[in-house]
Amino acid sequence: MPETPSILVLHGPNLNTLGTREPGVYGSVTLDAINADLSALAEKRGAEVEFFQSNHEGALVDRIQDASSWADGILINPAGLTHTSVSLRDALVATELPVVEVHLSNVFAREAFRQHSYVSGIARGVISGFGAASYRLGFEALMDILSA
Ligand code: DQA
Repeated sequence: MPETPSILVLHGPNLNTLGTREPGVYGSVTLDAINADLSALAEKRGAEVEFFQSNHEGALVDRIQDASSWADGILINPAGLTHTSVSLRDALVATELPVVEVHLSNVFAREAFRQHSYVSGIARGVISGFGAASYRLGFEALMDILSA
């Protein structure tokens, strides 16, 4: 494992509205609170973490491309782009970095269109359905991968 692993945490479209967005599905935790929780965890685990949220597919692709030059792993909630984006998948593959996919909700217990992910097939693993804790569990999984 690199002495101080650097992790990029990406949040896809509409996740900026967590807290007020469909709280029955996504809970009432805000994105800022999720990021603060991950920052504290990263500090405890001796990792560096950078966060980026965008409602724009291209902006996320740009960040993924940029991560090739500095990151050791990517934790991503692709949100709605999970189910639509070949570009996001291609960008993730091109980095050759380990990717962990997370979802707040259990996408497999929801509408049929949410049960296919363009990202899962190239991710090292997927964590779905544990609310904000999905991010924490995903982060720990990525740290395990990096220390293996
Ligand atoms: C989500 C699930 C997606 O289907 C949805 O489009 C989201 C959030 C989740 O975290 O549960 O925006 O990725």
